[in-house]
Amino acid sequence: MKFFNYLLSTLFLLSAFGCQQTQAPKSDMDVFVDNLISQMTLEEKAGQLNLIPYEGSVDDPEFINQLENGRVGAILKSNGAARNRQIQEIAIQKSRLKIPIMFQEDVIHGYKTIAPVPLAEAASWNIQLIKESAKVAAVEAAASGIHLTYAPMVDISVDPRWGRVLEAGGEDVYLGSLISKARVEGFQGNQLDDPNTVMACVKHFAGYGASLAGRDYNIINFSDREMMETYVPPFKAAIDAGVGSVMCAYSAVQSIPATANKYLLTDLLKKELGFDGFLMTDWSTISNLVYTGVAENDTIAAKLALEAGIEMDMKAEVFVNRLPDMVRDGIVKEALVDNAVRKVLEAKYKLGLFQDPYSYFDETREKKVVMSADHQQKVKQMALESMVLLKNENVLPISEKKKNIVVVGPLAKTKKDLLGWWFCKGEEEDVISIYEGIEQHSSKPKLRFAQGCEIDSFRVAGKELIPQAVRAAKNADIIVAVIGEEYWMSGEGGGVANLRLPSAQEELIAELGKLGKPLVSVVVSGRPYVLTDIAEHSDAVLQAWMPGTMGGEAVAEILFGDFNPVGRLPMTFPIHEGQVPIYYNYRKTSHDFNAPDRYSTRHLDIPHEPLYPFGYGLSYAKFSYGEIELDKPQFSMNEELTASIEVTNMGEVEGTETVQMYIRDNVCQITRPVKELKGFQKVNLSPNEIKKVSFTITKDDLTYLDKDLKMAVDAGEFTLFIGPNSSENKQTTFTLK
Ligand code: BGC
Repeated sequence: MKFFNYLLSTLFLLSAFGCQQTQAPKSDMDVFVDNLISQMTLEEKAGQLNLIPYEGSVDDPEFINQLENGRVGAILKSNGAARNRQIQEIAIQKSRLKIPIMFQEDVIHGYKTIAPVPLAEAASWNIQLIKESAKVAAVEAAASGIHLTYAPMVDISVDPRWGRVLEAGGEDVYLGSLISKARVEGFQGNQLDDPNTVMACVKHFAGYGASLAGRDYNIINFSDREMMETYVPPFKAAIDAGVGSVMCAYSAVQSIPATANKYLLTDLLKKELGFDGFLMTDWSTISNLVYTGVAENDTIAAKLALEAGIEMDMKAEVFVNRLPDMVRDGIVKEALVDNAVRKVLEAKYKLGLFQDPYSYFDETREKKVVMSADHQQKVKQMALESMVLLKNENVLPISEKKKNIVVVGPLAKTKKDLLGWWFCKGEEEDVISIYEGIEQHSSKPKLRFAQGCEIDSFRVAGKELIPQAVRAAKNADIIVAVIGEEYWMSGEGGGVANLRLPSAQEELIAELGKLGKPLVSVVVSGRPYVLTDIAEHSDAVLQAWMPGTMGGEAVAEILFGDFNPVGRLPMTFPIHEGQVPIYYNYRKTSHDFNAPDRYSTRHLDIPHEPLYPFGYGLSYAKFSYGEIELDKPQFSMNEELTASIEVTNMGEVEGTETVQMYIRDNVCQITRPVKELKGFQKVNLSPNEIKKVSFTITKDDLTYLDKDLKMAVDAGEFTLFIGPNSSENKQTTFTLK
């Protein structure tokens, strides 16, 4: 923890210095909130810290009683403008201090018009579009009575066994941080009290993505360095973008559950990273302190959480039940409760709830914006840009001549599975299945369908339909096989040990492959699977992810070439489960992967390369790269270096390439990643067009945390890589003086 001690002492000096300055006058918000707190009883204060799930009847006497007595500060899982208005009316008309309720929800990738899952969105590498997609979700949620969404989730993870990889931005800190910022801005807009926006709640602070072996809620075990280099930066990006709220993780950081971890929540999050919104627990994590044996009872759990810096208790109802007596008994200081209440009231103030507690409950607006044509169009664009073409041996796009298409596979006609985990108010009847997408496509193909096998989620059965599908596919011009996982197989609680698709599906593809007909596999999944055998038997593979409401149309447009794929992988696709965790920016160890003898760091029985590297994705165009040109071979700390490369479209159709720049620090006091993403640009090129793409590099791109975990930049030689993905690139070196 040396790093934090150092920074904290610096912060202390700064604040001590600050104390000698004249105090700034209180803002209107401070005056308002102070005044309100001064009127509150202990019970009312504890009530503001209480966040309860409530989906029951609005007439329930017990619920009404809680509202009237000010025992509820916020509600989750209550939706709809009319319903939430009714609840708000009770709080405003019947409670003593008329403090409005804040409504919260898991609007993770859409409210009712569902966008692709966040990992898929990350695959677009289109930061502006990701922001737009968050805005679509915000507009619908806000019109439906929601004030805050539990998103973005920004937990970096390198383990596809962990089901929650679907919810975040992938394995890379640079890309993940850009996405974090974009999603916060998309949800929150420019003004929090604009009823077309929602407050974002970035989660889960911090390190949850490192859950060991990909088992959800498992222990995490990493160094301070990893915490600061990998897990914290996307949170920092959200905080710098003004995120209103943070949710802590289920995880225990250095064996201290995040909920009770004062160092994590107060020293790091609030003091060091400068977060000044309000901080909530995850689901029942105060009670979990008792379950895990960190607290002997709820009273101790509440004390630990409050003193660590928690300001809102999700679901456990420990704060509301215990804090008033704890203050009276001298177990916690009232000032600490007041501080927490202040943060919650400030959030309500910023959302404009004290000016108009009903501004988010506009049924006319709700009808107009939810599932609007504009929103459907936007999520379709997101779906198109998120899909990654992994393999294509001259079969895609499907040519006009291929009239006789046989669609097979257990996911061809399913709808809910396209919505994915956390589909909020999304409904299957609004979804276009992949089969329907192909059927409705303007090329009017002659379609036949055979299911081929069960999804076989539990890996027990479902192969008896294979022969029928093989018979149906015998005379096809082309076979499109839609395979993958059901909506619930990734997501929270979705840890798996097996990263191959269920064997029935693998067998189906192997049997179809034997027919020698062009075979396209479309994979619907929320995580990278080991697609090694699928890719071997298929002529083309499209990673469609869980693409949302408009996913079926998007797949069809890509298959028929109306849209040229642009997606690039935000996570490495392993060749074998045994490689996991696998990621592109590993550090060199004492032994090489390719040692001539057995003394190598690779596994003896599998290759060390992944099946598809981070950043990888094909297009129907073909791009070639020139050599990197530098404007100077070396530059000093206050200069900039420009690196350029020519990219040519050698293909026959227009296409968009994502030109990626990676840097390695060749010599350093600590081992450094073999390369790190430091920039990327999307360029659109017509056939035969050549464009020069330039990147500006400054010393800020070369900083790192030194051996004392202090931000540093060292003079010396660096390697620069520019290319289409993390493993194929042109390279050169430059020197920082
Ligand atoms: C999840 C959170 C989610 C919360 C409320 C928890 O189990 O970890 O990400 O926001 O439930 O649904």
